[in-house]
Amino acid sequence: MTSELRMIDLFAGCGGMTVGFAGEGFRPVLAVEWDQAAAATYAANFGEDHVIAGDIAAVPDEMIPAADIVIGGPPCQGFSNLGLKDLNDPRNQLWREFMRFVMKSNPKVFVIENVDRFAKSPEFQMLLAETESGALREYEIQHAVLNAADYGVAQRRKRTIIIGSRVGSITLPAPTHAKNPAPGSGLRPWRTVRDVISGLPTEPSTTELPSRTSSYFGQSMPGTFSGMDLHIKRRPTAKSLSRYSFVPPGGGRFDLPIALLPTCWVNKPTGTTDVMGRLRWDLPSVTIRTEFFKPEKGQYLHPQWVSGEWDEEHSQRRGDPTLSVDRVITHYEASLIQDFPADYRWVGTKIQIARQIGNAVPSGLAQAIARQVKPHLAANHSREAEHSSELAVA
Ligand SMILES: C[S@@+](CC[C@H](N)C(=O)[O-])C[C@H]1O[C@@H](n2cnc3c(N)ncnc32)[C@H](O)[C@@H]1O
Repeated sequence: MTSELRMIDLFAGCGGMTVGFAGEGFRPVLAVEWDQAAAATYAANFGEDHVIAGDIAAVPDEMIPAADIVIGGPPCQGFSNLGLKDLNDPRNQLWREFMRFVMKSNPKVFVIENVDRFAKSPEFQMLLAETESGALREYEIQHAVLNAADYGVAQRRKRTIIIGSRVGSITLPAPTHAKNPAPGSGLRPWRTVRDVISGLPTEPSTTELPSRTSSYFGQSMPGTFSGMDLHIKRRPTAKSLSRYSFVPPGGGRFDLPIALLPTCWVNKPTGTTDVMGRLRWDLPSVTIRTEFFKPEKGQYLHPQWVSGEWDEEHSQRRGDPTLSVDRVITHYEASLIQDFPADYRWVGTKIQIARQIGNAVPSGLAQAIARQVKPHLAANHSREAEHSSELAVA
């Protein structure tokens, strides 16, 4: 009996969850991901041998190995529909697949991550029904919405985490960080955007990834890239630059002078404040999504900013523009805020890599879950080892 902990990562993306679990010594024995570039990024970091770069539904039962843990986040179809509680509803196919893997692999524990509203979804009701009296009835489940910032990630990102266990109930990990930790609580302050990106050049030297290709799964793909390769800027128009220059940290489109507002925003004076927002240095970032490179999609402008008066005559903001950094965060900065190691290897186009980054579970959150689960699996391994040596003696 070995004490190695074997894991299967389903809907593995570029490997955010696996980074966290591997950090606690888990060994991936299978990963399934149908986005070829994401699967290639996963393979570039963890090896191609155990990756199936294809549709989970096409993986035959015979290819599902035994494992101690199955992790993954089956995409959620929606929150308002009735009928999804039925496992046979075609829209539940990915959940059926997750359960097929659990039943074939027979892990001691499974971990599901999903959107923060997941507990309100029909899929969650279906999962409860399966653990109460269905195919997963051997598993006890615990669930909660966790904020990655509470686990040392420099990002506010809420995910529903479900731990199913057939080796005794496993509670969700307790936070290690807090916004304002009470003295004596043992908690550390939230990590901030400053902690993870302040050392990087504010003026990236290029707008493009290096022109390089590698072969994964028999296909040639852009990459492999890492570190400063991903520190790429965009090419905003003069008007966009002028707009960004007005947005203070924590601010957004409502800080723009009317003269600079696009017509659609003039006609829509209400709405989310995050649009064309600017990050703050001394807080965790907002949730990094797949289109973080578009300032109109959220609070993704670089946090460095110095105020300046509006110069009516020249229609621009006065002040020293070199003191403000009027650009969105780069792919590299987004990957660090998403808690990927600085030397993580990436495969794909700019858009594909951004999608991989934005879809990932921050490794610090995944590692906190792995740390919580590991002692239960290790204790079970020791019990099994004792039992088999007793049998051998008898
Ligand atoms: C939220 S992302 C996973 C992120 C990943 N856990 C991480 O931490 O990096 C969900 C992934 O499921 C993949 N996916 C969706 N449907 C799939 C299918 N039928 N077969 C395999 N992968 C699928 C998507 O391509 C996407 O990368």
